[in-house]
Amino acid sequence: MNRDAVVELVGAGYAYEEGPAVLSGIDFAVPEGRSIALLGRNGSGKTTMLRLLSGGLRCASGRLRLRGEDVSYDRAGLTRLRTTVQLVVQDPDDQLFAASVGQDVSFGPMNLGLAEAEVRERVREALEALDITALEDRPTHLLSYGQRKRAAIAGAVAMRPRVLILDEPTAGLDPHGQERLLAVLDRLRASGTTVVMATHDVDLALRWADDAAVLTPDGLRTGPVAELLADRALLGAARLRRPWGMAVAGVLRERGLLGADAPGPRTPEELEEWAAAVSGP
Ligand SMILES: Nc1ncnc2c1ncn2[C@@H]1O[C@H](COP(=O)(O)OP(=O)(O)OP(=O)(O)O)[C@@H](O)[C@H]1O
Ligand SMILES: [Mg+2]
Repeated sequence: MNRDAVVELVGAGYAYEEGPAVLSGIDFAVPEGRSIALLGRNGSGKTTMLRLLSGGLRCASGRLRLRGEDVSYDRAGLTRLRTTVQLVVQDPDDQLFAASVGQDVSFGPMNLGLAEAEVRERVREALEALDITALEDRPTHLLSYGQRKRAAIAGAVAMRPRVLILDEPTAGLDPHGQERLLAVLDRLRASGTTVVMATHDVDLALRWADDAAVLTPDGLRTGPVAELLADRALLGAARLRRPWGMAVAGVLRERGLLGADAPGPRTPEELEEWAAAVSGP
């Protein structure tokens, strides 16, 4: 068990009805303040694991712990969990249901029984954080996909969770939308929110995350993102691509252009900055 974990799966397993076991013996701790990328191929169990972690599914074996205590899946236990941990699902259409963006975002805080002024403040704050204040009165079904993604995330942010869990939040966003979302996540991180994100994008994981959690047929491996994503055997087992930045850093090191311990560039912009710095003015 991990003392610093806000929320933690201990020896967790799950099988859907009439299906084989999807996950078994999963140990996964989310320490306060770490940004974690969850990686694994299609069908490896990322979504299932995030649903176990946020209490939407109940562990068939093992336990879910919130600040060191087993979560009881009764109403009080789940409310306590949901005020700390919020999941934004893969498809925004599975999350949004109210007529307008403002109504949708206010639903969670209202359900907590907060005073109207407090609910309004939280909605304002969440819409502002996601840069969608102008969409407050718009019907959710008329929004673009990227706007619906943002509205769904705003609904979770309005709950002011300590841990925000996002299932493939950048899938379907254009490059500009991805950058804006990363900026939003940076702001949330700066204000103390811990973020866990499932993604297929290894370059994004390398750039954004502190730690990686990689699902393979042999189980879950966790550790610093740069370490795990440099492990070719692990990438092979998880059927993940090598991050572009890892390949560039490898070539630069081989040619003696980058020190063995120096961090390599993780984005095209960082590569340009590095090149400008080594070639001098
Ligand atoms: N509601 C369900 N009923 C039965 N089986 C399911 C259900 N949801 C998922 N599964 C199965 O569980 C396994 C894990 O699915 P999961 O959605 O967790 O994977 P994933 O890693 O999120 O995949 P993806 O990258 O495609 O989102 C898959 O084999 C899937 O077919
Ligand atoms: Mg999934």
